[in-house]
Amino acid sequence: MTVKEILSQLTLEEKAGLCSGEDFWHLKSIQRLGLPGVMVCDGPHGLRKQASEADHLGLKLSVPAVCFPAASATACSFDTGLLEEMGAALGQMCQAEDVSVLLGPAVNIKRSPLCGRNFEYFSEDPCLAGEMAAAHIRGVQSQNVGTSLKHFAANNQEYRRMTSSSQVDERTLREIYFPAFERAVKKAQPWTVMCSYNRINGEFASENKWLLTDVLRDEWGFEGYVMTDWGACNDRVKGLKAGLELEMPASGGVNDREIVRAVREGRLDEAVLDRAVERILNITLRYLQNHKPTVCDLDAQNQLARKVARESMVLLKNQGALPIAKEQKVAFIGAFAKTPRYQGGGSSHINATKVTGALEAAQGRFNVTYAPGYSLERETPDPALIEEAVSAAKAADVAVVFAGLPDAFESEGYDRAHMRMPQSHNALIEAVAAAQPNTVVVLYNGSPVETPWIDQVNALLEGYLGGQAVGAATVDLLFGDYSPCGKLAETFPLRLEDNPSYLNFPGVKDTVEYREGVFVGYRYYDSKKMPVRFPFGFGLSYTQFEYSALRLSADTLGPDDTLTCYLKVKNTGSRPGKEIVQLYVRDCTGAALRPDKELRAFAKVALQPGEEKEVALTLDMRAFAFYDVESHAWRAADGTYEILAGASSRDIRLSRAVTFQNPVKNPVQVHENWTVGDLLADPRTGPAAKKLLGQMMPDLDLEDEKAKEDMMLHVMLNLPLRSVRSFVAFDNDKLRELVDQMNAALKG
Ligand code: BGC
Repeated sequence: MTVKEILSQLTLEEKAGLCSGEDFWHLKSIQRLGLPGVMVCDGPHGLRKQASEADHLGLKLSVPAVCFPAASATACSFDTGLLEEMGAALGQMCQAEDVSVLLGPAVNIKRSPLCGRNFEYFSEDPCLAGEMAAAHIRGVQSQNVGTSLKHFAANNQEYRRMTSSSQVDERTLREIYFPAFERAVKKAQPWTVMCSYNRINGEFASENKWLLTDVLRDEWGFEGYVMTDWGACNDRVKGLKAGLELEMPASGGVNDREIVRAVREGRLDEAVLDRAVERILNITLRYLQNHKPTVCDLDAQNQLARKVARESMVLLKNQGALPIAKEQKVAFIGAFAKTPRYQGGGSSHINATKVTGALEAAQGRFNVTYAPGYSLERETPDPALIEEAVSAAKAADVAVVFAGLPDAFESEGYDRAHMRMPQSHNALIEAVAAAQPNTVVVLYNGSPVETPWIDQVNALLEGYLGGQAVGAATVDLLFGDYSPCGKLAETFPLRLEDNPSYLNFPGVKDTVEYREGVFVGYRYYDSKKMPVRFPFGFGLSYTQFEYSALRLSADTLGPDDTLTCYLKVKNTGSRPGKEIVQLYVRDCTGAALRPDKELRAFAKVALQPGEEKEVALTLDMRAFAFYDVESHAWRAADGTYEILAGASSRDIRLSRAVTFQNPVKNPVQVHENWTVGDLLADPRTGPAAKKLLGQMMPDLDLEDEKAKEDMMLHVMLNLPLRSVRSFVAFDNDKLRELVDQMNAALKG
């Protein structure tokens, strides 16, 4: 049967029923029409299919599945091909377990390092988050399984997540909090989108027509269906009208009856309900018609999880202790070496098929001893464990301390209160580093931490939450089988207080104001030229790379053009490696208040020693534009922009200027409150303004450099036209005449 045929045979009650779940994870079935109730499951970095008891916080058991690294880790790979491969494996697992939609990826922007769910999110940067999400979606959906791009939108904290209102201005939404969703929708067309729990400027995401219909569908072209986050439905009928199709989980029939009543009472057009059912059925049938019995090779997936983890880890410091030579005597210290933290708590919690710690991966292959160093149960340092660890470190050539954040420190459901690691971990690192100059720290954590011991250790490898094969991947890198090749998808500030959201996170009661606006993450730190612990996009390798020959396909571009930027990258070291090249754009026009630079494209390049490759990255008008709230449109101002090619946001290696020129000028209307200076700056109104200035300051010679320092000149340049009347003989008729003349000049 086709969707239309099913729809035509459904009763009003059945249609209303299809708009909410049957239970925690299933959509409703219509037995008499042979329509089964398909299943949707978390997500995002593994399948959490609960076969019996259900919950949305990852507490009850689910079928064993491979746990891949969390998004905070995979984002650091900057590798869209890899994410697609991982997505395909996830999709295959869903086919094997008959799951129609895998809930994720989650693309909320990391506004504060404290958000408890940051480990599930990709980045502080929307371009990176959007590209990674699009790749994840393409991968999963290549297996004819849907995704649910979540949590739409402005859900950047856990505190009061179901009632809090994110107060965000439109430009900030458009430039920071929307683009990852926009990119993923436009590039990968997720089968579903999950709206968030929170309100946005007072209105619940689940009933926000502007969000769910005007922006998501009409502007971005989303074709699938929107579901709620679990329990996010507020006013069901309002939601349906706004573009919310599916309420999850079940509403116990309450909201189904609400919908029926609204149709009967004429408060809801039945066509709106039909449209929602049609959208849900389109996706359900798409899954059912392509579902095929699949067998998943879990060992192969485990190997893939290891590769993904390896490609994602970030080497943050190395004064020579890494890679460890195979014959060296190594002390693995810290309970995480044996029992790694490899995933976060909450709805994304996977029942991993097996977990490999670094100790297990290294034993039998390398000369490794082990000391736990701290208790997994306690936060306070244990002197006896530390003493034992120090002895082990002294007896070895290299000490590797495994530390980070325990489960209780970050999770879905609550935010972190600070950015510190447990005292027991910090004290251990300090004691070991004091005893062993070759001390390496490996971190397993979902979000940035303070590293007070950084100057005392020789090397630091950031492993994030690396999935079930995290230990094997760590060992691959520590002993130099591979070079680390991840880069940070977020800034590590020196202190929590440096973060731009610090004074407004997580808000007061049910209001959180996004007062930092577009200045999120490196957009803020770089604009302020603030020192940070580790910048966005930073990561070391065991080899080195040289950048050269940046050239642009044009010197000037307009709104419909694209600009291709070419540059060469060479591996100048002695080991194979991969470099992540980042392309930022800096607006030098001064037309709007903008961050110092913004990431607009990136590429990961694999290079053998001595090898050189040319990278080509393409930019379009959006790479230059800001969101103009007056015209509700993207606008790139005429003028100069810098194209910056860098190894991180703080390590710009090459730059080139390009001019943007829009042949269609914004319609502007000169009025009495335009300043003389603004009019002087525009070549069309400049001559008239210069004449006026001459009348007010007869001795002025604008060609004379010294004159520019004149206090009077500055005052006059800031003078609105209307005030000219106060300084020279100028009546209202003359003023009107001048304004008309200027407007005529602008029209050309
Ligand atoms: C989470 C979602 C998740 C859903 C179902 C909610 O608590 O916010 O991300 O998909 O539960 O488990």
